Amino acid sequence: MKEKKQFQSIRGMRDLSGDDAWYFDYVCDAVRKTLHSHGYAAFHTPILESTELFSRSIGEGTDVVEKEMFTFDDHDDSLTMRPEGTAGMVRAVIQNGLTFGTNKLWTAGPMFRRERPQKGRYRQFHQFSVEAFGVAEPEQDAEQILMTANLWEALGIAEYVKLHINSLATPSVRENYRKALVEYFSVHLDKLDTDSQRRLDKNPLRILDSKNPAMQAVIADAPKLSDYWDEVSENHFKRVLNCLDTAGVEYVVDDTLVRGLDYYNHTVYEWVTDKLGSQGTICGGGRYDGLCELIGGKPTPAVGFGLGIDRTALLIQEVAPIDQEKPLAYFVLLGEQAKAQGLVLANQLRDALPEREIITHLTDTGMKAQFKKANQSGAEYAIIIGEEEIVNQQVGIKNLAEGSQQIVAFNDFIHFFNH
Ligand code: HAM
Repeated sequence: MKEKKQFQSIRGMRDLSGDDAWYFDYVCDAVRKTLHSHGYAAFHTPILESTELFSRSIGEGTDVVEKEMFTFDDHDDSLTMRPEGTAGMVRAVIQNGLTFGTNKLWTAGPMFRRERPQKGRYRQFHQFSVEAFGVAEPEQDAEQILMTANLWEALGIAEYVKLHINSLATPSVRENYRKALVEYFSVHLDKLDTDSQRRLDKNPLRILDSKNPAMQAVIADAPKLSDYWDEVSENHFKRVLNCLDTAGVEYVVDDTLVRGLDYYNHTVYEWVTDKLGSQGTICGGGRYDGLCELIGGKPTPAVGFGLGIDRTALLIQEVAPIDQEKPLAYFVLLGEQAKAQGLVLANQLRDALPEREIITHLTDTGMKAQFKKANQSGAEYAIIIGEEEIVNQQVGIKNLAEGSQQIVAFNDFIHFFNH
């Protein structure tokens, strides 16, 4: 006999149910509406891509590529479950010949990173990945930031998130800066932790991102990228900030913000809250003009962001919970014919009021148990159908909050709700 085994979900991969699932979908609905209103079209890409696509795009020296990817061999190919959405989207845009004109695209779904799980940080998490291709102008960066600001308003969390923004300038500026950083940190090698010492040659900018408290002083005294900006970089950044000022969106210029992925240039930003503990970044993005070319496409300016659905949903639950609409009606059905008739009337009601929730009770339990369920559901009305109602072609409608009850003919049923 086979051993009885209780299976568990994989570490860092959550089941979502009840309120968690409700808030998750609530965020998705709101984001989709906002994307539509800004002219973004859905473009869904696969979860599996070639490993090399990610290592080239995200960068060999990043945490994501170095230690967080779920990678496996499939015959002769090395495949990876996408740790983020941008690389796949850029691959798809090139493959589908969309590197001309303007293309504003989004996808949403699960992403996978083997990080240490904690509240707000999962190994399977979910993102909206939103990308605009073909616009080099800084106003495109700004429009995306304003779009996210609109979204926080719509979701009721605007006052709990702060915009941190920086410019990573151009690759040649960054190369000069990189040299200066290596020089500076080499002198202070003893103050760096082993992770940062390892990064010194490969990816010294990432040292600035370290959260190690013992390193904050040496980071604070490091040379600033802004001291190396050229005119093009400075002008690009000014134009982005001007749009934010004009729109009245507040921000903090944060010159330690370098992001965890290598493909960025010019604008980078993150929306951060202090209400979720250490996993407070709900959205991050920036410009990545070099990525298309880097993975074999035509040079194509691009800017985008990733919105963490899990964290955004958690934040709303925590600081701006929503009164969920209760069901309109709960059908209390006593007997086979009552159930058959109930299914028909419930569907008529759904046709008339498609936004509302209508529940039918279909197990053979007594009136009392069914009323208990009706009350528990929070429904406004119980619709009662028993043998007598079938004979008389009518239903009982009970207002569950007030306790009042009336009899309504089948023919007048919809009219009762829809007048
Ligand atoms: P990212 O900053 O790595 O950017 O991720 C974007 C968002 O995904 C984060 O701000 C966070 O809310 C969420 N997130 C990331 N990792 C986790 C995790 N382990 N658990 C829960 N939530 C997480 C990107 O992925 C870029 N592709 C964004 C982008 C698009 N840049 C340009 N276009």
